[in-house]
Amino acid sequence: MVEYFETVHNRKNTRSVKWDMVKDLFHSEDVLPMWVADMDFKAPDAVNKALIERAEHGIYGYTIIDESVKGSIVNWLSKRHDWNIHSEWLSFSPGVVTTLHMAVQALTNPGDKIVIQTPVYTPFYNVIEAHNRNIVKNTLHYNGNSYEIDFLDLEEKLKQGVKAIILCNPHNPVGRVWTRDELEKIAKLSLHYDVLILSDEIHGDLTFPNKQHIPIASLSEEIANRTITMMAPSKTFNLAGLQASYAVTSNNEIRKKLDEQFTIQGFHGLNTMGNTALEAAYNNGEEWLDGLREILYSHYQYVKKELETHTDLVVAHAEGTYLVWIDCSSLNMNAKEIQKFFNEQAKVGLNAGAGYGEEGEKFMRMNIACPRETLEDGVNRIISAINTK
Ligand SMILES: Cc1ncc(COP(=O)(O)O)c(C=O)c1O
Repeated sequence: MVEYFETVHNRKNTRSVKWDMVKDLFHSEDVLPMWVADMDFKAPDAVNKALIERAEHGIYGYTIIDESVKGSIVNWLSKRHDWNIHSEWLSFSPGVVTTLHMAVQALTNPGDKIVIQTPVYTPFYNVIEAHNRNIVKNTLHYNGNSYEIDFLDLEEKLKQGVKAIILCNPHNPVGRVWTRDELEKIAKLSLHYDVLILSDEIHGDLTFPNKQHIPIASLSEEIANRTITMMAPSKTFNLAGLQASYAVTSNNEIRKKLDEQFTIQGFHGLNTMGNTALEAAYNNGEEWLDGLREILYSHYQYVKKELETHTDLVVAHAEGTYLVWIDCSSLNMNAKEIQKFFNEQAKVGLNAGAGYGEEGEKFMRMNIACPRETLEDGVNRIISAINTK
C-alpha cells in the first residue's frame, strides 16, 4: 500500500488547478506547487475501476442517489466515526462550500452575526460576507507551537447575540482535531446561547493514526438537532473534481429549509461520476485510507523535523489534514515579503497565511499530500533558500 503513495504522477496538462495554474499564480513555471487542497496521489483502484465501468456504459443521463449510495455513507460514518445516522438525514451538494452558502441563506438573515475561529479557511469569510451577514471572530490562541480555542472570548462573542458558528473540524489551516472536551464546551455554549452549528468536517477522515475525529453532532441528540454537518469523500480520496458532497442533519425543519434553498438555486442530485465514486470509495476505500493516513503523518513529522532542525521556522503542532501551517516569524519579513521569498527564492508555491486572516500574516500553508520525492524537493528548496539568504 505504501508504494501506492510513492509514485510521482505528471499532473501537468490535466486541467489541474494546482499544477496548470502555476505560471499564472506564481509567475514562473519552475515553482513547485504545494498549495490548493488536493493530493498528487491516484484515487483508490476500486474507485477508478467503478468509474471506468460506469464510463463503459457510455450513457450519462440524470442520476438517482439511491439507497445503496446513501447506505454507503451511513455505513462509513458508523464505522469510521462511530456516528449512527439515518439516510433520511442526508442532503446532497456539489461541494461543502456550496452547502455553506445554502445554509447561511436558508437559516440566517442579513445582518446576523456568524462566528468563525480564525485563522480559518478563506471561503468561510466569503460565505458570510457574500450574503451580508456579519463576521464575528473568535481568534484561536497560538502559544508559539499549537492552537487552542479561546472559550472565554467565544462566550463573550456569543453573549452579543450570534446566530451561527461555522466550525472547522479538523481545522484548516492549523491542523487541530478538536477533542471531545473542546467540542463539548462548544456544544454547551451553543445550547446556552441558542446558536446554530454549521460544522465543516470535510477533513474528518484525514486524522493522523491514533487520532479520532468526533463529529460534533454525535455528542447528543440536542446538539445534532442544531447542527448541519458537512462532509465529502473529496479530500479523503482525492475526488474534488467530481464534486460530490453531502450534509447531515437530524432536524427535519432545518433540513427542509436547506433542501428548499438548494432547489431555489437550481441544484439537484449529484453528477453521475461523483455518485459512482462516492459509493465505491466508501465501500472499498478503507485500507487505502489507512495507508494514506500513515503516509501523511510521516510526511508531517518529516517536514517538522527538517524545517525545525535546519531553519528557525516553526511547524505548528497538527493532528490531521494534509495542510501544514508554518510559522515564518523568524524570517523577519512582512506578509508580502514572506510570500515573495517563498515564490521567488525558494521556488515553492504555498498558500500565503494572510489569506486565512490577519492572524496568518506570518505563516505559509504547505500541502504535504504528494509523494515523498516531491515533498523532499519542496522542503529542500525552502531550507536552501533560507540558508543562503
Ligand atoms: C475546510 C474546507 N472546507 C471545504 C473545502 C472545499 O470543499 P468543496 O470543494 O466540497 O466545496 C475545503 C478545501 O480545501 C476545506 O479545506
